[in-house]
Amino acid sequence: MMVPVHIAIIMDGNGRWAQKKGLPRVAGHREGISAVRRVVRASVDNNVKYLTLYSFSTENWKRPRQEIEFLFSLMESTLVVEMKTLHAENIRVRFIGRIGQLPEKLQKIIGDTEKLTFKNTGLNLTFAVNYGGRQEIIDAIKVLSKMKFSVRDLDEASFGRFLYSSDLPDVDLVIRTAGEQRLSNFLIWQSIYAEFYFTQVLWPDFSEDDLKRAIDDFARRKRKFGGL
Ligand code: FPP
Repeated sequence: MMVPVHIAIIMDGNGRWAQKKGLPRVAGHREGISAVRRVVRASVDNNVKYLTLYSFSTENWKRPRQEIEFLFSLMESTLVVEMKTLHAENIRVRFIGRIGQLPEKLQKIIGDTEKLTFKNTGLNLTFAVNYGGRQEIIDAIKVLSKMKFSVRDLDEASFGRFLYSSDLPDVDLVIRTAGEQRLSNFLIWQSIYAEFYFTQVLWPDFSEDDLKRAIDDFARRKRKFGGL
């Protein structure tokens, strides 16, 4: 069976999950962490090589400050608790986005986790935090102009090396939960030939079986990459 090499997930519906249960929105984010754990495990089990999770978009700054602070501290405490386990599982953890604008403490644990898992050869797990696809392209142009890179030599491969995610392959499968059907500025350069899988399931309810269903669905797609 053809397994997607790179799965990218837009984890949506935490707020609605909480609302349905009469809980504050942040309870949905907390439960979302359990879904992250499940999907990481299921990715390893299904031989997915790259898993990228949209954890905070550049547009998410529009949310109430309290919710933003909760999300950052949730990421921080999750990493503190999980980084050793991730390392023991041979998982390589990366972060993409404008990391320099995040709270110092979160930046620190992000750096520590990346360093700890740097040499791991199992699943490549990437969290997109303060990430925007357009911002990524703009930041790449800024970097290459500072390096006096000759624009004449620019092509898709050389430009790709300036992206945050320069060492990630193109996305094969984008999954979005909670019924929404849009890309929302996620990995726009890398997703041009991605297959899309949408599900009504809210992110905190997303299970190992849900990931398997998406992978099975992907295996039935006929990919042509513009050819016949
Ligand atoms: C979308 O639900 C979810 C988010 C904006 C945050 C998801 C982040 C995590 C689960 C944490 C990731 C963990 C690490 C370690 C980086 P929503 O709030 O948009 O839900 P709604 O659309 O129902 O309101």
